[in-house]
Amino acid sequence: MRDLPLISDPNLLAGIEHAEDAGVYKLSADLALVQTVDFFTPIVDDPYTFGQIAVTNALNDVYAMGGKPLTAMNIVCFPIKTMDISVLREVLRGGLDKMREAGVLLVGGHSVEDNEIKYGLSVTGLIHPDKILFNRGAKAGDSLILTKPLGTGIVSTALKGGQINPQLLEKAISSMTQLNKKAAELIISESNIHACTDITGFGFLGHACEMIENSDVGMRINSAAVPIFAGVQELVETGFVPGGLYRNKNFRIHQIEVAATCRAWILDVLFDPQTAGGLLFSLPGKQAQGLVEKMRTAGIVDTAIVGEVVADHPGKFFIY
Ligand code: CO
Ligand code: CO
Repeated sequence: MRDLPLISDPNLLAGIEHAEDAGVYKLSADLALVQTVDFFTPIVDDPYTFGQIAVTNALNDVYAMGGKPLTAMNIVCFPIKTMDISVLREVLRGGLDKMREAGVLLVGGHSVEDNEIKYGLSVTGLIHPDKILFNRGAKAGDSLILTKPLGTGIVSTALKGGQINPQLLEKAISSMTQLNKKAAELIISESNIHACTDITGFGFLGHACEMIENSDVGMRINSAAVPIFAGVQELVETGFVPGGLYRNKNFRIHQIEVAATCRAWILDVLFDPQTAGGLLFSLPGKQAQGLVEKMRTAGIVDTAIVGEVVADHPGKFFIY
């Protein structure tokens, strides 16, 4: 779609050109709108939980820009002829509870009849035009921090295959329903945040690649330091791998050099498509440990330094 004629405007501070998490439009010298939309088919069986996950996921792109979500609209596709309406009620109730927790107001929505249920939100938020966290801008010497474990795509594939350990499922659900609100507040309170994004469909390495594409820096990732849900290794080695993982891997593998110390199953997890994943951001190395400790104290317990930004292989990754 790259040749589609886009409309440019000096007030458009983040558009669709650079794979930003959300669009940002400047209203005045000290105020800008943040806008995003996301919806998808259920990845868990319980409708209330699905509603919570869908809303957490949709709000995360506003937090990834450093914005504060303000209002939202429901997007609903529902098979009214074959599914009981009470299912939809539970989905919307789960979504509303999560919006309430986030301090977001539901202002409307739209529903269509469809063969399969789908749910999500369009979200509008606010941000100061000088405080936008772009996904580009990482500098050599920065540390990379990830705030949630990886593996939700693998977990939902195993759930569909009927092969999921209940404790692992509970851990993954509790992560997918955890808003990135608190994490974003801690990040914003820090100076010198150079780049930030959230991990979703393209997986950890797909989104990390967007941070350095056509830039003058590269990244080194310590595979053993990346947080991953306990039990995911067994699922990968049994073959519960979503199709999107291989698509992500094939698309990006040419940018990545993998050392023998990186285990094969971890490399796969680094490409696993995530739902409502954590924030991935970069800041000067000397500030990193202090912020990780603040995050952990605030209950974002899996936060970890996963790598560093380097000048010696621009646009490329080294995974060890
Ligand atoms: Co995003
Ligand atoms: Co999005």
